[in-house]
Amino acid sequence: MSPNDTHKSANAQWGGRFTSGPSEVMERINASIGFDQRFFAHDIAGSRAHARMLVAQGILSDEDGQAIEDGLDKISQEIESGGFDFSAALEDIHMNIESRLRELVGDAAGRLHTARSRNDQVATDFRLWVRDEIDAIDAQLQGLQAALIEKADAHAGTIMPGFTHLQTAQPVTFGHHLLAYVEMFGRDRGRLADARARLNESPLGAGALAGTSFPIDREATAASLGFDRPMANSLDAVSDRDFALEFLSTTAICATHVSRFAEELVVWCSHGFGFISLSDAYTTGSSMMPQKRNPDAAELSRAKTGRVYGALIGLLTVMKGLPLAYSKDMQEDKEPVFDAADSLSLALAATAGMVTDMTAVPENMMAAAGKGHSTATDLADWLVRVAGVPFRDAHGITGAVVALADKKGVTLAELSLAEMQGVDERISAEVFDVLTVEASVASRTSFGGTAPDNVRAAVAAARSLFLTPARSE
Ligand code: ARG
Repeated sequence: MSPNDTHKSANAQWGGRFTSGPSEVMERINASIGFDQRFFAHDIAGSRAHARMLVAQGILSDEDGQAIEDGLDKISQEIESGGFDFSAALEDIHMNIESRLRELVGDAAGRLHTARSRNDQVATDFRLWVRDEIDAIDAQLQGLQAALIEKADAHAGTIMPGFTHLQTAQPVTFGHHLLAYVEMFGRDRGRLADARARLNESPLGAGALAGTSFPIDREATAASLGFDRPMANSLDAVSDRDFALEFLSTTAICATHVSRFAEELVVWCSHGFGFISLSDAYTTGSSMMPQKRNPDAAELSRAKTGRVYGALIGLLTVMKGLPLAYSKDMQEDKEPVFDAADSLSLALAATAGMVTDMTAVPENMMAAAGKGHSTATDLADWLVRVAGVPFRDAHGITGAVVALADKKGVTLAELSLAEMQGVDERISAEVFDVLTVEASVASRTSFGGTAPDNVRAAVAAARSLFLTPARSE
């Protein structure tokens, strides 16, 4: 058959004015059932809420309402058990379900679509789906935070080098470093909660675009689907996809955090660093080099970020030129959102697994922390605090001491007092108290600083802020 051949009669649900059916290509480009079947449970929930409201408003008889409910129960079981026959000719999940309902309960099924359009139906389904996904990702983020907090607690006093420009800067604690990510993932959860609150309005009852002449009760359908209220404008209700874009923006930022952390894991487990080792469960071997242990889960988590960004840019581009209200372009809204949600969810699961399983190698962290004159700032601060030297001058003096240590091939703490006094005579023996990495870290007690006592307090605060049972809405 050529692509232009029509091979069937017009669609039973909208084909009244058509004399022949779509071409094979038209059917393929038009069908969304291949992916929107993921909405089945939400579609059925929306139909139930709509049918009950129609009965309560006297628009549908009790008998028809009951027949619809029973039919929807049956369809739900059929889909869950894999026994439902999805048809591309029926385009999408909405018409697949309605068509099956007609087979099961006859004419009552045809009355379900009273005062409803697929335009408000799909907008409702999609909001319900994204809302569930927000809750699922929030729970995953909480699990990841719990894993990070646990490790941070165990390593509140484990010293590692802190970096800027990936150059050794000042010593920090491993626990402090991990808690930085707990903060990031906490903000991601906050953004998800914000997006959820704005999303939680019901488009159902907006009809195709203009509302309906039937005496429907939009407050009732909104409440029964757990929405806070009906959306105020019918045109906006069917044409808005901000909720999907906000979800994607939020997942894009979250994926950035996952990716940065994954990058650190890759670096930390490399032989040059050797700060951690990842478990067998989250690494792979090489088919050629028997000694290899590759951090593939971290690399793939880092890479999934590209798909999430792509989804955001893709949907922004789909939406940017669309006039009100609904355009079929908007059928292209789903796959990027599904892909972003699936990609992020898998990356979060892998990240939580890697964190739980990883082992730190404190000796390597400690050895690296002492390199690169990481306590130079402590010497400068000491000159300010004890010798009353202005900070800018102290910075210059310290630079000269660092140059001397480099010349001699020793650390700052290994220089003799006489050598240091040769640079500046105000340096006294007490300076040795601040030149070790332990002393440096312990002295960082300002709020938010890296001192082990601070980290222990921060662990407790993070537990009560992030790990207490789910915030109520
Ligand atoms: N499958 C469509 C979508 O995903 C449902 C809405 C169709 N509406 C329409 N007027 N053709 O957007």
